Amino acid sequence: MKKLQVGIIGLGGIARSHCDAIATLDNVEVVAVADLFEEKRREYMDKYDIPRGYETHTELLQDDEVEAVAVVLGHQLHHQLTVDACNAGKHVLVEKPMAINLQQCDNMIEAAAANNVKLMVGYSQHYYGTSVKAKEILDSGDLGPLITAVCYMSKNWGYPGRRPQYRSRYHGGGMWLTNGVHVVDRLTWVMASQAVSVSAAIGARAHYQAGDDSATAFIRYKNGLAGVAVAIGYADGAPDFSCQVICANGTLRFSQHGEKYVRVGKGDKWEDVPFDDPPVEMHNEWKSFAEAIEKNIEPPTHGEWGRHIMEILFAAEQSQITGREVVLDSGNGWTTQTSGSPITIDHGWV
Ligand SMILES: NC(=O)c1ccc[n+]([C@@H]2O[C@H](COP(=O)([O-])OP(=O)(O)OC[C@H]3O[C@@H](n4cnc5c(N)ncnc54)[C@H](O)[C@@H]3O)[C@@H](O)[C@H]2O)c1
Repeated sequence: MKKLQVGIIGLGGIARSHCDAIATLDNVEVVAVADLFEEKRREYMDKYDIPRGYETHTELLQDDEVEAVAVVLGHQLHHQLTVDACNAGKHVLVEKPMAINLQQCDNMIEAAAANNVKLMVGYSQHYYGTSVKAKEILDSGDLGPLITAVCYMSKNWGYPGRRPQYRSRYHGGGMWLTNGVHVVDRLTWVMASQAVSVSAAIGARAHYQAGDDSATAFIRYKNGLAGVAVAIGYADGAPDFSCQVICANGTLRFSQHGEKYVRVGKGDKWEDVPFDDPPVEMHNEWKSFAEAIEKNIEPPTHGEWGRHIMEILFAAEQSQITGREVVLDSGNGWTTQTSGSPITIDHGWV
């Protein structure tokens, strides 16, 4: 079988999860890595048996055998490296957050389209076995019409070990852009609609830093419903990564971290629902990326989806500044839900 030849750009911490996930797939292999530090390149090449290492992304992009790249470094670099990679004819999986302003997101989408390559944003929590199962349950209509959802990512911000660029909003850091993206991605996915407005409170409440560590956002969707996203990087506490969805005929809870579960509530009782648990967390993500390239279809978290999530995040920041609900000016850039189709089941009134 012809394997998709991949290059990984940026060998900080999370590149390991990408390499681990690729190692679980038969149809993808890492053939090159790029990092400014020789010891990083050596570490990855030795551990994962990767044949080629380059000092910069520009050198890696000249490698004709590389068909697709993962852009896995600081948020302020996502835009330029993605555009460069698209212009070099490579498919791109860019880590979250997609970029640090909407103009950059637009450039990335345009570069992918102009070069006829796939662009996928690494909203990794979208691909967890627990998330996939939760969405499947909601789409089945079994729980009846959706009413609301509240999604959390509340965890220790890990200030001492957090690199400076991730603590600075100027560089696209702070809890909201760093991790709030996951929460808004999951929330918008389960709400099965496009966001129309946001009202939010965002700030640095637990740490002294040039980026936020706490955000609570109330998001209204086109389907007339609203959901809440909570992303907090506290100094001490206990984590919560759960998402709770309330429908007319049942409730749903799911979480991947801490306790891993999918639970449905009916008849005043919660019951665990079995789900497919991939061997490693990024397995489904890489499977989807490879499938999109092979079949020439859009990946689930495609560029337009990625942009919409960022639009919600930036509008929330605007709401914090103005103290008002901010209406999103997105048009109809995308029309389909990433599960394939919007919820179209006719629910009886209850
Ligand atoms: N999806 C997830 O769950 C998840 C988890 C953690 C991090 N992330 C994201 O992954 C990205 C990377 O985070 P990290 O903490 O692993 O990275 P990092 O910031 O620790 O490391 C980045 C690496 O890129 C290298 N680099 C910088 N410029 C380069 C260039 N031009 N060419 C080649 N190498 C270059 C640096 O030397 C460094 O080793 C961020 O966007 C982060 O938000 C995602």
